[in-house]
Amino acid sequence: MIYSKVVGIGSFVPEKILTNEELCNIVDTSDEWITSRTGIKERRIAEDGLTTSDIAAAAAKKAIKISGLNPQDIELILVGTVTPDMIFPSTSCIVQNKLGLKNAAAFDISAGCSGFIYSLSVADSFIKSGKYKNVLVIGADLLSRITDYADRSTCVLFGDGGGAVVLTANAENNRGILSTHMHSEGGHNETLMLKAGGSLMPASIISVNNGEHYIKMKGAELFKYAVNYLRDVAEEAMESNNFKPEDIDLFVPHQANVRIIEATAKKLRFPMKKVFVNVEKYGNTSSGSIPIALDEAYSSGRIKESSVVLIDAIGAGLTWASSIIRW
Ligand SMILES: CC(C)(COP(=O)(O)OP(=O)(O)OC[C@H]1O[C@@H](n2cnc3c(N)ncnc32)[C@H](O)[C@@H]1OP(=O)(O)O)[C@@H](O)C(=O)NCCC(=O)NCCS
Repeated sequence: MIYSKVVGIGSFVPEKILTNEELCNIVDTSDEWITSRTGIKERRIAEDGLTTSDIAAAAAKKAIKISGLNPQDIELILVGTVTPDMIFPSTSCIVQNKLGLKNAAAFDISAGCSGFIYSLSVADSFIKSGKYKNVLVIGADLLSRITDYADRSTCVLFGDGGGAVVLTANAENNRGILSTHMHSEGGHNETLMLKAGGSLMPASIISVNNGEHYIKMKGAELFKYAVNYLRDVAEEAMESNNFKPEDIDLFVPHQANVRIIEATAKKLRFPMKKVFVNVEKYGNTSSGSIPIALDEAYSSGRIKESSVVLIDAIGAGLTWASSIIRW
């Protein structure tokens, strides 16, 4: 049996911090409301000119360095994102060029905030099939570019950032990605969407004036789907590996809202000391959320060699996904 082992990890967030207090000068909100409803205290905002591929390339560069691989050994680049630099070419091809990864095929995966785990799953399948040995998987988003800073119900939630892992084929028994699980429900697509800029509603003066190039979200509905689907998909991952909650060393959930994280952890019977949370620093960075959290958990020693890590996420689509990794 071939496993996809994580041999390198990295992340990148822009320097500029936007605090809750600063948001109070932009929309009618308060630090108390944002903190009590979401747990978020601040988020990172990219300066003008910085692109998703810049964030992705910076994170990937660190991951490749840690992996010790020759960059020319990377055979595939996957970028999970809903904020590509442009509609085409893909952000992964732009990353390939920025990092000079001449021998890699490259494509993007659009699965909302589940983009990183979906990409991890695709990479794992390629590695297990024997098609590729070394795959670079990135999750990166620049949500500030599609956030309406006049809409207080969404603008307090989102931030910019990304992370990356390098996966390598590994024959060592039971080390690497143990399983991945993906789901989608297109019938719930109106809970979270950005309508304009595609074939349905090409960019026009009308689409811009109507604010259709911004995220539209039904927050309360999404909250309910999130707590149920995130529990279900985490349970599915544990059941398929014959694991109980006590067999998991660290649960790294999508960082959207601390109330969703706490409700999911409670349903799964995980004490919060086994749950990684950094949403207070970054808000929801979409596909960037899980790999940034994994990188911080790894760098701070909460993930060590052989740690069993459960990740799960939900996002636009709707999509939701999970994976268990033995590091
Ligand atoms: C968005 C979210 C934080 C809202 O929290 P909530 O407790 O559900 O709050 P509600 O939507 O019931 O809004 C309550 C009130 O607060 C107001 N409100 C909304 N945003 C506000 C803000 N930033 N500051 C102050 N008040 C705000 C609303 O207008 C509403 O006022 P009303 O009762 O007078 O109409 C929550 O629904 C959520 O996190 N949903 C999931 C979002 C998510 O994770 N999206 C990404 C998934 S990948």
